[in-house]
Amino acid sequence: MIINKDTIIQGKKVVLVSYKEEHVPKYHEWMKSEELQHLTASEPLSLEEEYEMQKSWQRDENKLTFIILHKEKFAKTGNEVDAMIGDTNLFFATPEDRICAEAEIMIAEQWARGQKCGWEATLLLFSYAITHLGVKQFVVKISFDNIPSINMFKNMGFIELSKSEVFQEMTFSKVVDEMWISWINMSLGDFNVVDKNKVGCN
Ligand SMILES: CC(C)(COP(=O)(O)OP(=O)(O)OC[C@H]1O[C@@H](n2cnc3c(N)ncnc32)[C@H](O)[C@@H]1OP(=O)(O)O)[C@@H](O)C(=O)NCCC(=O)NCCS
Repeated sequence: MIINKDTIIQGKKVVLVSYKEEHVPKYHEWMKSEELQHLTASEPLSLEEEYEMQKSWQRDENKLTFIILHKEKFAKTGNEVDAMIGDTNLFFATPEDRICAEAEIMIAEQWARGQKCGWEATLLLFSYAITHLGVKQFVVKISFDNIPSINMFKNMGFIELSKSEVFQEMTFSKVVDEMWISWINMSLGDFNVVDKNKVGCN
């Protein structure tokens, strides 16, 4: 999506930035992992295909993508590639439909798991999508065997909608309401959304 091309979201543990060409080689290395392919239901791509994908995601009005940086590491090195730990995305069925979005989260770097980075990155994505895109419902599809992800989304208030034996996955959903927005804000505490091309923050 073009909307977040220059957006930086700063939380307590993570910083979200748009997916840029410089991120592609590391992203490509991550996606060689069969475990990550299985958990994220992704197909392996060649490096050339990954570069094409990065370009198409930036233009695609059905897809919002952020790369997740480890905030502490980024503060130390100032290098986005070194600090990259995963990505988080939203898919919309059509460019006109901003009501319901399918969410994805991946903390690819093992060393960065279990530090609440996945939790914070997902809530920052939800908060951005509610405020800037008007999303009213989130959906996630999770493999039966992905206990960390099932626990995380259940703890965020998601409820099971359906199960597919064929795909071995469950669909969870959360409808956005004022109470949930307050809970997200409370859980996140202070965070900052900056658009590099605009003066001021929101
Ligand atoms: C699922 C995932 C995003 C969690 O991110 P993370 O940063 O490691 O997790 P967090 O530290 O933010 O933990 C958030 C919650 O997730 C759950 N969780 C995380 N790791 C867990 C584990 N090993 N076992 C059980 N529950 C776990 C817990 O509910 C946890 O909250 P708690 O610590 O208060 O109990 C991460 O494991 C991941 O990216 N896995 C590979 C890709 C993937 O499965 N993506 C999701 C596809 S639907």
